[in-house]
Amino acid sequence: MTVSTSTYRTPARWLHWSMAALILAMIPAGVIMIQEGLNRPLQNTLFIFHKNVGVLLLLMVALRLLYRWRNPPPPEPAGLPGWQTKIAGMTHMLLYGLLVLMPVAGYTRVKAGGFPVETLDALGVPSLVPRSDALAAFAKAVHYYGSWAIAILVAMHIGAALFHRFVKKDAVFARMWPGAST
Ligand code: HEM
Ligand code: HEM
Repeated sequence: MTVSTSTYRTPARWLHWSMAALILAMIPAGVIMIQEGLNRPLQNTLFIFHKNVGVLLLLMVALRLLYRWRNPPPPEPAGLPGWQTKIAGMTHMLLYGLLVLMPVAGYTRVKAGGFPVETLDALGVPSLVPRSDALAAFAKAVHYYGSWAIAILVAMHIGAALFHRFVKKDAVFARMWPGAST
């Protein structure tokens, strides 16, 4: 299939949509797994999913940023007001920042607290942070406030994407989902 240069390239789109699906699962998993009185086996499954998929997301965002550096996004669609492209650009940068911060804080909270990250442990990866209750408590707070920030930004981002797709019916959504009729 030929893809016009006004759309994101195929690897960028695959990474965007697979990361989006994982993040949309990670946020509720994180919230549900810390609820008091939750059924134990379900809680363990959610914790294992959350920790290991969180580490996978860190690798995916590193890949995405590397790919983005070598293959910059397509030029902005013509006719978008400057303030909108500025806000979109800032939101995207903040999302990338949080997508690095959240796994790093989560990993630090778990490892400094003396808990496992199953896949990394099975691969023999040594802990990259020292065992420290103070560090674990700090990382836990960073992860907690970061989770609010990422949830709010993701909601704004999805709202903006759907607004472009269904209300303004312009070319923005189709940049990430080619074939979406405008
Ligand atoms: C993009 C990646 C991630 C997102 C969006 C995310 C999101 C969340 C959310 C929304 C919560 C519930 C609110 C809170 O108590 O903080 C949470 C909790 C938690 N997350 Fe993550 N997380 C991510 C990565 C990770 C990773 C990589 C780990 C560990 C390896 C991790 C470990 C935890 C733990 C242990 C909790 C429970 C916090 C506690 O009460 O001790 N997270 N996460
Ligand atoms: C859930 C987590 C999501 C995250 C973290 C996320 C993150 C991002 C980021 C960082 C970009 C900028 C790409 C770049 O220039 O490098 C982007 C672009 C885009 N996203 Fe998402 N996204 C998410 C979900 C969604 C969803 C559910 C939709 C649709 C309803 C969507 C629609 C779009 C569109 C249309 C673009 C292209 C905007 C443009 O024209 O530049 N995203 N997303």
